[in-house]
Amino acid sequence: MTMRSVVLGTGHYLPKKCMTNADLESLVETNDEWIVERTGIRQRHIAGEGETTSMLAIEAAKRALADATIDASSIDLIILATATPDHTFPSTATQVQAALGITGGAAFDIHAVCSGFVYALTTADNFLKSGSAQRALVIGAETFSRILDWTDRTTCVLFGDGAGAVILDAQKGAGTNADRGVLCTHLRSDGRHLDKLYVDGGPSTTMTTGHLRMEGKEVFRHAVINLAETVDESLHRAGIAASDVQWFVPHQANRRIIDATAKKLGIDPSRVVVTVDVHGNTSAASIPLALSVARHDGRIKQGDLVLIEAMGGGFTWGSALIRW
Ligand code: UT7
Repeated sequence: MTMRSVVLGTGHYLPKKCMTNADLESLVETNDEWIVERTGIRQRHIAGEGETTSMLAIEAAKRALADATIDASSIDLIILATATPDHTFPSTATQVQAALGITGGAAFDIHAVCSGFVYALTTADNFLKSGSAQRALVIGAETFSRILDWTDRTTCVLFGDGAGAVILDAQKGAGTNADRGVLCTHLRSDGRHLDKLYVDGGPSTTMTTGHLRMEGKEVFRHAVINLAETVDESLHRAGIAASDVQWFVPHQANRRIIDATAKKLGIDPSRVVVTVDVHGNTSAASIPLALSVARHDGRIKQGDLVLIEAMGGGFTWGSALIRW
C-alpha cells in the first residue's frame, strides 16, 4: 500500500483587464509580429489597481473547492507558490487561509519563481504521503505586472498575472503506475545562474521591490537543456515512456521552448496544453492555470497521465507525473 496525492479539483482566475500586443506598441518600441514570432504570446491579463496576488489566489482556490465539491474546513495544508506576495510578511498563504475561513492545519508560501508550482506540488505530495496532512490546497499566484520595468521591451512583453489552484487528497494506492495521484516528482536548482534571471531589489538589499531583469537568450538555452533532463529523470524514475503521457502541461514561458521540448520528447503537438498565447508567462501560476483550463474544457479526464515541467530564476527547475 502506498499513499498517493490524488487531484480532487482545480480552479483558476484571471484579472479582467486584458492587454494585447497592440496595447504594448504604445508603451515600448515593439510590434505584434516580433512578440508572436519570438514567444507565441498574443495577450496577457493584468491585475487592476488594488487587485493583489492574494485576491487572485482566493478566487482560484474557491473555484477549486467548488470543483472538488469539498468544504474548505477539510483542508489542513495550504502551500502557495509566488514571487510576488502581497507583503514581505505574513505569507500570502495565510491570507488565503483566513479568507477561506480555515483555522486548522498549516499554510505557507514557497518561492521558486516559475518553478514554484512544481516545488509546491512536490512539497504537498511529501506531506500527504508521510501522513503529515490529509488534504492540501496548492496554489500558484502572481502579479508579475508589479515587478516589470514597463520601459524595458525585452521583458515587459513577456509576463502576465493570474492564479491557479489544485486540491490534493491523500488516498491509498496499490503502488503501481495505474494508481491515481502524483506518481513521481523531481526537483533541481543551481544557484550559480542567479544573475541570469532576477529582481534588482528586495527588503534586505535596496528596501524596494525592484524590477525583473533577464538575460533572455541564456535562460532560453538553459531551459531547453534543463527541462529535457528533468522530464527524462521523472519518466525514468516512474518507468513510464513519453508515449504513455496523455497531456503535456509545461510552464508557459515561450511557445518555442514548449514546442522544442515536446519535439525532443516525441509528444504529439495535439497532446500539449498551450496557454502562453492568451496568458503570457504567469510564472508560478502558469501550470495550475493551464491544468485548470484543460480540465474544465474537457481535455484532461480522470485516469489520464499528465506531465508537468518548469524552469525559472535561480535557476530552479523540476517536473512531475500525475495520474488524474
Ligand atoms: O519563465 C522563466 C523562464 N523564462 C524564459 O524561459 C524566457 C527565455 N527567453 C526567451 O523566451 C527569449 O530569449 C526571448 C523571448 C526573451 C527573446 O527572444 P530571442 O529570440 O532570444 O531574442 P533576443 O533577445 O536575441 O533579441 C533579438 C532582437 C534584439 O535586437 P538586436 O540586438 O538583434 O538588434 C532585441 O533588441 O530583438 C530585439 N527585441 C525586441 N524587438 C521588438 C527584444 N525585445 C523586443 C521586443 N520587440 N519586445
